Amino acid sequence: MCTRKDMYKLVTLPGDGTGPEVMRQGLRVLEAVSQPTGLAWNIEEIPCGGKYYLEHGDRDWPAGSEAKCDAADLILLGAVGWPSPEGRGPVLMKDGKMAGYSPVLGNRTRLDLFANVRPVILYPGVKHRVHGTHKQVWEPGKVDMVIVRENTEGLYSPTGGKLAPGGRTDVAIDTRVITRRASEQVIRFAFELCRRRNKGAPDDGKLRVTAIVKDNVLHGCQHFRDVFFEIGESYPDIEKDTAIVDAFTQWLINRPEYYDVCVTTNMFGDIVTDLASTLQGGMGMAVGGNIGHEHAMFEPIHGSAPKHAGRDRINPIAMILAVKEGLEWLGHRKSDDRLAKAARAIEAAVVSALEVGKPLTYDLVGEDKAARCSEVGQAIAAHAGRLAAA
Ligand code: IPM
Ligand code: MG
Repeated sequence: MCTRKDMYKLVTLPGDGTGPEVMRQGLRVLEAVSQPTGLAWNIEEIPCGGKYYLEHGDRDWPAGSEAKCDAADLILLGAVGWPSPEGRGPVLMKDGKMAGYSPVLGNRTRLDLFANVRPVILYPGVKHRVHGTHKQVWEPGKVDMVIVRENTEGLYSPTGGKLAPGGRTDVAIDTRVITRRASEQVIRFAFELCRRRNKGAPDDGKLRVTAIVKDNVLHGCQHFRDVFFEIGESYPDIEKDTAIVDAFTQWLINRPEYYDVCVTTNMFGDIVTDLASTLQGGMGMAVGGNIGHEHAMFEPIHGSAPKHAGRDRINPIAMILAVKEGLEWLGHRKSDDRLAKAARAIEAAVVSALEVGKPLTYDLVGEDKAARCSEVGQAIAAHAGRLAAA
């Protein structure tokens, strides 16, 4: 029996579109592993996103949400972003920011969640989604890297604006800010992660950190690269590698086994991690942790996918793995082995469903064999619960 003080505070941000659907499955799995491991949660669900903004017309989440996130032990996010009724891009707020900014970019900056950590793993049984003429299927284990994205500045810095003489926008400016402080902390994080993982690249087993830059052109990338080599001096056991981002995109696809940990600036990281999801079976498998010194928020990196919303159709595995990553992070932070055990049970249940090949959603097994989102969640929850009890 848990007393209130043994409870961890969890904030959930289901968000828009398919976000709430996958969140339900994530929480179902969490519940299944919590009971046998003796974990108890005080769960606060905060409505948020573009649809919330349209319905409330003021903010993209209720007043007081910041303080609730600040006080949470762990934050889980579904997805945000909703099409504007005019049919041109996402709903924007009066200040021009995307409706859904507060739970995502707002939390990332306010809580200094400086590292966006995106594991790219092709689990056995999952076919990658690269459809070349050779239909090559990699041997298992060839894709096992982590891309660490700086999460608070770069092109996402709120320093730009629009010039609209006479009311008609003429010039729009986004300023890319790369600071020493943010670069140092995310680069150090990447080196530490490389050591902790202690796996090396699948190809040659070498511990390697690759900085993805455009240092032949951009000042910010030259600065990021120089900081990378400075910080790297403290890690003589780790190979330092740089790749220019455009060339990197093809190497990522044609030799993923070369990469162990990669680190990059905000916008490049946003783009290359969606591309990298192709190597792990698609966006339905890709998970991201927004990690700071004191706080963390975990999410599937797919968006709200409005066209699939309400159809109980999309893959909940990214969300389920986000729960697993969150438990692992909190377990480490609180030195609580129950959380680590619960995380291991979730991953093992996911791996087993992928190996057996069912029940899985359409993106992994095709329409004719597809199970519903909720069926996948139910099966993984049941199995994870049994494993956590063992
Ligand atoms: C992501 C998303 C966000 C980003 C959006 C929703 C603002 O694409 O987490 O990758 O650009 O960071
Ligand atoms: Mg993205």
